[in-house]
Amino acid sequence: MREDFVVTPYKVSGEVDYDVLVERFGTKKIDAGLLKRIEKYGPLHPMLRRGIFYSHRDMDWILNEYDKGNRFSLYTGRGPSGPIHLGHLMPWAFTKYLQDTFKVKLWFQLTDDEKFMFYDQLTLDETKKWGYENALDIIALGFDPKLTNIFLDTEFIKTMYPTAIRAAKKITFSTIKAVFGFDNSNNIGSIFFTSIQTVPCFLESMEQGRKVPCLIPCGIDQDPHFRITRDIAEGLGYYKPALIHAKLMPSLTGGDKMSTSQKADNTIFTTDDKKTVKRKTANAFTGGRVSIEEQRKLGGNPEVCSVHAYHTYFFEPDDEKLVKLYDDCKSGKMMCGECKGILFEKIWKFLESHQERRAKAKDRLDDFFIRDCEK
Ligand code: TRP
Repeated sequence: MREDFVVTPYKVSGEVDYDVLVERFGTKKIDAGLLKRIEKYGPLHPMLRRGIFYSHRDMDWILNEYDKGNRFSLYTGRGPSGPIHLGHLMPWAFTKYLQDTFKVKLWFQLTDDEKFMFYDQLTLDETKKWGYENALDIIALGFDPKLTNIFLDTEFIKTMYPTAIRAAKKITFSTIKAVFGFDNSNNIGSIFFTSIQTVPCFLESMEQGRKVPCLIPCGIDQDPHFRITRDIAEGLGYYKPALIHAKLMPSLTGGDKMSTSQKADNTIFTTDDKKTVKRKTANAFTGGRVSIEEQRKLGGNPEVCSVHAYHTYFFEPDDEKLVKLYDDCKSGKMMCGECKGILFEKIWKFLESHQERRAKAKDRLDDFFIRDCEK
């Protein structure tokens, strides 16, 4: 077992072993029984069938309550520090599937405060600007405006602040150090911040004036925040939030989570043009052999291939077609160039219409945004 990796909301390093992570974090793996149960509400999302959303806390409880007529609300978020890439869209597309399947309300938090406090080079105006930019991508995914509230922390703080300080009073500095790996050099805003990420778990309860279950779809790197939330929720008079966790999408150049900060062609942004997408897919890291002859003879290695990962995570929803891609690679029948070509076509087809919807979203911001102050 590989143990020497780190996953926190603020640091992902080493090669992540997702089974080890479940044990470390104390979450549960999504098993066949739970999948079967979720399938009762509608066809299983490919990310569930393929174990990309693979871990959870209290999903069974969420469904028990739902069956009793006690609907949950969804909560997810984004730290607006730069442009959106395909890896970001993945859990949000899954969130939309949950909204469509269960017809439930979604609270979408944009943490302009967080990214301002954690990134030296970013001003508050910039993180706010990114928040509005990023919201276009969120809206473009097709969330139901009647069931979706998007907000920037700095524009919704009046509503959140009383609950944030009630939460903060129950969280010690030593907990923060242990959970996030912070030390005395961290600024005090970053130490306080988790209480702001806690509040949206309770927004639906606050609005309705009764306890409402909350389900958080997110990358598993965000789980530490909500471990803290779960410890204090009942003391604040709310249910513990439930979670459903995704693995982190690998980068196009190999390695784990895609990052916006690296300069190389390791991410595809939602605003990339056709030529750029083509170049990035052409340069992607694969499990190919050194020569065509070798690959025909020995076959490729889809397990380590970022192109295959992209087919799996997002772009080939049909299981049979995915198996064929895998088999044709393994057997040496299909070369990497062809496989990259197939991926490029699919990504571009998706992005072309995403970009149209994104442009239209500019006129729809007011259908989604909530504020408790001036813009
Ligand atoms: N902290 C997250 C980030 O940096 C943003 C976020 C806020 C979030 N609330 C969330 C992510 C809830 C998942 C679920 O990206």
